[in-house]
Amino acid sequence: MKADKIIIAGGSGFLGKALTKTFLQKGIEVIILSRKAIPEDFVKTVVWDGRTIGEWAENLNGSSALINLTGRSVNCRYTERHRAEIIDSRTLSTRVLGKAISQCPSPPRIWLNASTATIYKHSYDHPNDEETGVMDSSPAGRDRFSVEVAKAWEKELYFAHTAKTHKVALRISIVLGLQKGSAYDIMHTLVQRGLGGHMGNGRQVISWIHVDDFCRAVQWILSKPSPANAYNLASPGALTNRNFMEIFRKVSGRSFGLPAPHFLLEIAAFFMRTETELILKSRYVSPGRLLSEGFIFQYPDIESALTNLRNKKVD
Ligand SMILES: NC(=O)c1ccc[n+]([C@@H]2O[C@H](COP(=O)([O-])OP(=O)(O)OC[C@H]3O[C@@H](n4cnc5c(N)ncnc54)[C@H](OP(=O)(O)O)[C@@H]3O)[C@@H](O)[C@H]2O)c1
Repeated sequence: MKADKIIIAGGSGFLGKALTKTFLQKGIEVIILSRKAIPEDFVKTVVWDGRTIGEWAENLNGSSALINLTGRSVNCRYTERHRAEIIDSRTLSTRVLGKAISQCPSPPRIWLNASTATIYKHSYDHPNDEETGVMDSSPAGRDRFSVEVAKAWEKELYFAHTAKTHKVALRISIVLGLQKGSAYDIMHTLVQRGLGGHMGNGRQVISWIHVDDFCRAVQWILSKPSPANAYNLASPGALTNRNFMEIFRKVSGRSFGLPAPHFLLEIAAFFMRTETELILKSRYVSPGRLLSEGFIFQYPDIESALTNLRNKKVD
């Protein structure tokens, strides 16, 4: 990998921490842009507000790569206020980073900006790759807002004037890792409590990637002299929610899991202050580019990924 100083905007969260650890292990300097000073001495944190140019922008000068992971969590009720926070945190951070790069005398060679696999249409039977994927919302997916966010996010990236910096959108699927409050953590708790049955009709496809493969794929893209402008960060092992939960129960040694019908999910989502779209949208995404370029997944199937995480949790 040809990179020695990497700036990670929004790097204080789940994926930022995983990437930071990976880069530091390889001797690469990491600087995190965060809205708050983080008193951790193993990595330098620079304060920014995610929307206006400030002294923080000087850190981009002479850096090798920028990775932007900024974004208010989508795990909430989509009230007007939350909608504005979700979209602004993504678009304004992307816009200001583009501005900072355009003013930088020695800008990073490459800029990876988070996006989401949710940009693709709700689909049960069409695996969306980067070439043939359909980017649209559908009433069945109840995903108009999330697709709008994803499109606006990528538009900010592609519209940024960064002549010397190559831009790449990372269409990230559900990342499975041990982070508290993450998708894996929530599903693990449900399975342990006997609630790990299928959700809704169970036909919706879950696209996912193990956090180690996420970090490896990011390094793979950074190492390419001319990467494509978008990559699906999803394993080739997408599967239905019904199969996903069945394998989760098997790996966890639970023979039974109570299914959650749609109406019950709506009630639960209301009380948990979240949205059912996160569970019920069929995100059928294929890592077409990574596979065609020869990337090898360490965890291509869900059983190997869940077994690895279960063993790490027990350690
Ligand atoms: N994890 C997944 O499975 C997944 C899947 C698809 C897409 N993604 C996308 O990948 C990115 C990183 O995911 P993650 O799981 O690491 O998320 P995360 O743990 O929630 O971290 C996101 C970071 O964004 C910053 N942030 C939060 N709200 C903000 C706001 N209102 N304004 C400005 N900055 C804000 C926070 O940094 P500070 O508080 O330090 O400023 C936070 O550490 C996100 O954009 C997410 O949408 C993640």
